[in-house]
Amino acid sequence: MFLTPFMMKRLAAKPYREKRLPELQKTASELTRALGRKPVLRVIMVGDHAASALYVANKEKLAAEVGIDAATIHFPATASATEVRTAVKKLNDDGTVDGILIQRPLPATYLESEVLLWVAPEKDVDAFHPETVGRMVLGLEGFLPCTPAGCLKLLDFYGYSVKGKIACVVGRSSIVGKPLASLLLARDATVLHCHSRTPDLAAITRQADFLFVAVGKPGLIGKSHVKPGAVVIDVGIGKDAAGKTVGDVDSESIAGTASAATPVPGGIGPMTILGLLENTLESAAKKVKS
Ligand SMILES: NC(=O)c1ccc[n+]([C@@H]2O[C@H](COP(=O)([O-])OP(=O)(O)OC[C@H]3O[C@@H](n4cnc5c(N)ncnc54)[C@H](OP(=O)(O)O)[C@@H]3O)[C@@H](O)[C@H]2O)c1
Repeated sequence: MFLTPFMMKRLAAKPYREKRLPELQKTASELTRALGRKPVLRVIMVGDHAASALYVANKEKLAAEVGIDAATIHFPATASATEVRTAVKKLNDDGTVDGILIQRPLPATYLESEVLLWVAPEKDVDAFHPETVGRMVLGLEGFLPCTPAGCLKLLDFYGYSVKGKIACVVGRSSIVGKPLASLLLARDATVLHCHSRTPDLAAITRQADFLFVAVGKPGLIGKSHVKPGAVVIDVGIGKDAAGKTVGDVDSESIAGTASAATPVPGGIGPMTILGLLENTLESAAKKVKS
């Protein structure tokens, strides 16, 4: 039997961003009027990780466009965990700060199990705190983690529903894979969850109507991993041999098999930043209501 190759639709973030930006600008200006100040986001960065510096700059740039006062408090790589924790505590106690984000990676000497608890849950716009994660898993109101929520918002925007479908998530990090699987389950998808110990990865991923990949290994996923007609969401950000930014999915190989896929760059990356700003506005809006 011959299957007609699929014309792969490009699920770019740009059209979503163009629609959403004026809405966020309007919300930000209404909040500025109500609070007598702009919504405030503070980012903590430790050390000089080049990729982090770029992410932080992108966050600040889009925040300024939306009308959010975003600034980064930059510590040298030698700063102690106690010193940084004290700064976060100050931001927690400052009533004029709506959202706080601690940029990862942190120096290896910092204990992630402790850092997770630093940001007060009501300002945890990056959704790392165990209370925030627990609320999400239980389906209670709270901030949603920006990258997984961004994947679902992009699917919503392009008119896809995962309800009753088979979704496969490759990767089980606390910030992408695990919360994404939880959000998909909450949307009535049947979820297959893969990781580095999964035997015969392609045999599992090929069952998926929606395939989400968050691993950090360029080219890991190719045609043999994709069910004909599947929608592929590539969260990965890496570099190919020529130094070009690429995802985990070999987009040339899956063209003709997948019916739609997100580009890298220009897919989930911008959705993540928008999600962070949406969470910051949500946090500021709670102050107006209370
Ligand atoms: N677009 C965005 O905004 C955004 C946001 C966050 C992250 N990212 C990118 O997404 C990627 C993943 O990030 P992360 O923080 O989730 O990474 P991570 O913490 O390193 O987790 C990677 C996951 O991939 C799994 N894995 C590794 N090799 C595998 C293989 N051969 N087959 C199947 N699974 C494998 C690992 O399994 P084990 O658990 O068994 O080790 C782990 O669960 C990175 O490229 C990162 O830069 C992008």
